[in-house]
Amino acid sequence: MSSTKLISLSIVFALLAALTSTNFHILFLNHLVQFTPPTLSSIPLIFPILISRHGHHHHHTNEKKTTKTNICDDFPPDFPPPDTNTTSVFCVDSNGCCNFTTVQAAVDAVGVMSPKRTIIWINNGIYFEKVIVPKTKPNITFQGQGYTSTAIVWNDTANSSHGTFYSGSVQVFAANFIAKNISFMNVAPIPGPGVVGAQAVALRIAGDEAAFWGCGFFGAQDTLHDDRGRHYFKECYIQGSIDFIFGNGKSFYENCHITSIASLVAPGAKVINGAVTAQGRASKEENSGFAFVNCSIGGSGRIWLGRAWRPFSTVVFSYTTMSDIIASEGWNDFNDPLRDQSIFYGEYNCTGDGANTTLRAPYAQRLNDTQASPFLNYVSFIDADQWLQSYTSN
Ligand SMILES: *[C@@H]1O[C@H](CO)[C@@H](O)[C@H](O)[C@H]1NC(C)=O
Ligand SMILES: *[C@@H]1O[C@H](CO)[C@@H](O)[C@H](O)[C@H]1NC(C)=O
Ligand SMILES: *[C@@H]1O[C@H](CO)[C@@H](O)[C@H](O)[C@H]1NC(C)=O
Ligand SMILES: *[C@@H]1O[C@H](CO)[C@@H](O)[C@H](O)[C@H]1NC(C)=O
Ligand SMILES: *[C@@H]1O[C@H](CO)[C@@H](O)[C@H](O)[C@H]1NC(C)=O
Ligand SMILES: *[C@@H]1O[C@H](CO)[C@@H](O)[C@H](O)[C@H]1NC(C)=O
Ligand SMILES: *[C@@H]1O[C@H](CO)[C@@H](O)[C@H](O)[C@H]1NC(C)=O
Ligand SMILES: *[C@@H]1O[C@H](CO)[C@@H](O)[C@H](O)[C@H]1NC(C)=O
Ligand SMILES: *[C@@H]1O[C@H](CO)[C@@H](O)[C@H](O)[C@H]1NC(C)=O
Ligand SMILES: *[C@@H]1O[C@H](CO)[C@@H](O)[C@H](O)[C@H]1NC(C)=O
Repeated sequence: MSSTKLISLSIVFALLAALTSTNFHILFLNHLVQFTPPTLSSIPLIFPILISRHGHHHHHTNEKKTTKTNICDDFPPDFPPPDTNTTSVFCVDSNGCCNFTTVQAAVDAVGVMSPKRTIIWINNGIYFEKVIVPKTKPNITFQGQGYTSTAIVWNDTANSSHGTFYSGSVQVFAANFIAKNISFMNVAPIPGPGVVGAQAVALRIAGDEAAFWGCGFFGAQDTLHDDRGRHYFKECYIQGSIDFIFGNGKSFYENCHITSIASLVAPGAKVINGAVTAQGRASKEENSGFAFVNCSIGGSGRIWLGRAWRPFSTVVFSYTTMSDIIASEGWNDFNDPLRDQSIFYGEYNCTGDGANTTLRAPYAQRLNDTQASPFLNYVSFIDADQWLQSYTSN
């Protein structure tokens, strides 16, 4: 838990959250390679907790130099705790202060089809690795120390990984996955207009019954691949530019902060250069869809709430604050008017300059209470009583 780590990770977030230039990811990687301590003023105010922690640490720097001999001295003793009948805890620390130095090594050590939950406790730091949780490893929890201080980071693109679907920095194929207080980032260069093959997924979640609390998802095009299965996201931070929450999952997003990093659009220009969602429901028979409740959408560019990647694309935003970056038509049918009949795009009780529905596309629906209710209740939407409630009760 060196102060260097905290500072350098805060730089990552500073750059990811604040900059919209096309090469900030490169800057960020360079920065990590050639680390020089930043000034406090370069750490953005959006992470006040990190600043105060840093300030505290700084105060004790001299004392630390003379008394600390071992980098692991700060490490909690007797950690991880011994197994119980229901849970094992594996510990990951990049400085080697406990069981594993990489997240993948910890995942590899989990028993195949273990009925117990394995909590992989991941210390503060940036873990530069591509992580795969295979189908044979259900019941894993990634427990970070905060989404601004613990991150798994890689930089594959569609081109570098046999397609967008395999570009994820973290790919989860197992059921019953949980992540808490950790970030997933893809730091491949942000594609300029018209560039192909540069999609770069931060997290692919392809297992059923997954939950994310207090997590960060950082990328540009195709950040969060909400691929398939039932998923719950609470108090997460999701950043991207084009189709940055996409896939065929059935997912409930609650109290999440959604930030667009699409390029700035000159006032008056008609350009639309991004989309929050590209939900991939292909047929009436599937029942996938994204429900957003009490979220916020802000950032830069001019973007749609969703694009109809597939004909039955289903997305509803409720009680969500939208800034003026939302294009007045709101949604896009992927230039296929046939889809206007089958897509389900709804808004309910949203607020903010971007939530004015006067000029919305004709197929966009202002839902009434009855129509909105299935998209407001996560217990029924993702069958939370069958699985999610057990995650929160222990
Ligand atoms: C754990 O399992 C053992 C062996 O099955 C059993 O004896 C013990 O009572 C269990 N402990 C708890 C806390 O359930
Ligand atoms: C992790 O480290 C603890 C303490 O040294 C040890 O008891 C435990 O068996 C280790 N777990 C694994 C999976 O290596
Ligand atoms: C472990 O995973 C299996 C298969 O996904 C699931 O049926 C079981 O309920 C899970 N157990 C725990 C403790 O989460
Ligand atoms: C990822 O970063 C490494 C190190 O900077 C670089 O060599 C590699 O080309 C990058 N990959 C992609 C797909 O950008
Ligand atoms: C996550 O982090 C927040 C803020 O630091 C903290 O209040 C919360 O207890 C943490 N929760 C978990 C499950 O790690
Ligand atoms: C991806 O590959 C295609 C075909 O080789 C190429 O035209 C394109 O420029 C590549 N994109 C990136 C971002 O490297
Ligand atoms: C809505 O989200 C905000 C944080 O974004 C939170 O403070 C507030 O409690 C949430 N409201 C409800 C009803 O959950
Ligand atoms: C909006 O929310 C308020 C307060 O929860 C509620 O009274 C009202 O019926 C809702 N409906 C619409 C269509 O805005
Ligand atoms: C909504 O947009 C229409 C068309 O631009 C405008 O006339 C109206 O004043 C707006 N309503 C609000 C509440 O801003
Ligand atoms: C809500 O809208 C549906 C579809 O247009 C309609 O059938 C229903 O009567 C409406 N319900 C209310 C309470 O307005």
